[in-house]
Amino acid sequence: MKHLLSVTDLDAAAATALLDTADRLKQALLGREVRKLPTLRGRTVITMFYEDSTRTRVSFEVAGKWMSADTVNVSAKGSSVGKGESLRDTALTLAAMGADCVIVRHPASGAAHRLAAWADRDRAATGTDTCIVNAGDGTHEHPTQALLDAATLRDRLGSVAGRRIGIVGDVLHSRVARSNVFLLATLGADVVLVAPPTLLPVGVQQWPCRISHEIDAELSTLDAVMTLRVQAERMRGAFFPSAREYAIGYGLSDERAAALPQHAVVLHPGPMVRGMEIAPSVADSARSAILAQVRNGVHVRMAVLYHLLAGAPE
Ligand code: ASP
Ligand code: CP
Repeated sequence: MKHLLSVTDLDAAAATALLDTADRLKQALLGREVRKLPTLRGRTVITMFYEDSTRTRVSFEVAGKWMSADTVNVSAKGSSVGKGESLRDTALTLAAMGADCVIVRHPASGAAHRLAAWADRDRAATGTDTCIVNAGDGTHEHPTQALLDAATLRDRLGSVAGRRIGIVGDVLHSRVARSNVFLLATLGADVVLVAPPTLLPVGVQQWPCRISHEIDAELSTLDAVMTLRVQAERMRGAFFPSAREYAIGYGLSDERAAALPQHAVVLHPGPMVRGMEIAPSVADSARSAILAQVRNGVHVRMAVLYHLLAGAPE
């Protein structure tokens, strides 16, 4: 694996290998007083975020540090991006400073793919073989989120294959939804997207999933339900009448959580808007795996860095 740009670059074997590595790293660190493996000593990992982030940016930094890499964070605010420097010049500058891996989040769909193409083309000029990881590009993809969600489903349900997973809410603006649909389908899950027609993207009928507009018709059949944040910052116009009406139509309330099978798991990629897409009592309930997702995020990102920078283990 040269870069991680899209879950569609991963077949079931490659995705499972990443999840297995994440599991092994988790086990290797369990109970250790000093959470430090020497695996990536001397490697430089740079996060370059043009959009806000708590989980992804911090967990990549922690993942790199736990594997002894040198980690550096760059955000658009405070960098020379503010003086008009382009994405390409910024990335090439970081590569020329010896970045072995650049992890990028950007509001433009396709930004990580462009960076990877430049990194490959300009390898000789920058003097570094830099790999690129997509940490969220516009409304397109968020591959490490889908991997950590799959890791969490494996932990909680024992397997992903054959499980029915409902993804509910603002699919239109969600890179998490797209990455999850494609990765979960690759891993053999049966995925149903539940959203109002206004919050579904053009072409969704070609995705490997079923579409529903009725959350209450789906709940009793689900092994897991993933609620999506309503991405207000990406909305130009009104996609539903009001927050209250959205919550009535699609929010995961106590009553809806009670309609799930007993074993079913609740996921949310975060950040949550409590009370709108998910009731606080459901987010904090025993069936919620939301903080387990965050914990798995560190191990999955360790695995991604490991496979990219040290090669997949035998
Ligand atoms: N944090 C995720 C993302 O950046 C989900 C969200 O913000 O709603 O895509
Ligand atoms: N889930 C997720 O990507 O969270 P952040 O936006 O906080 O990184």
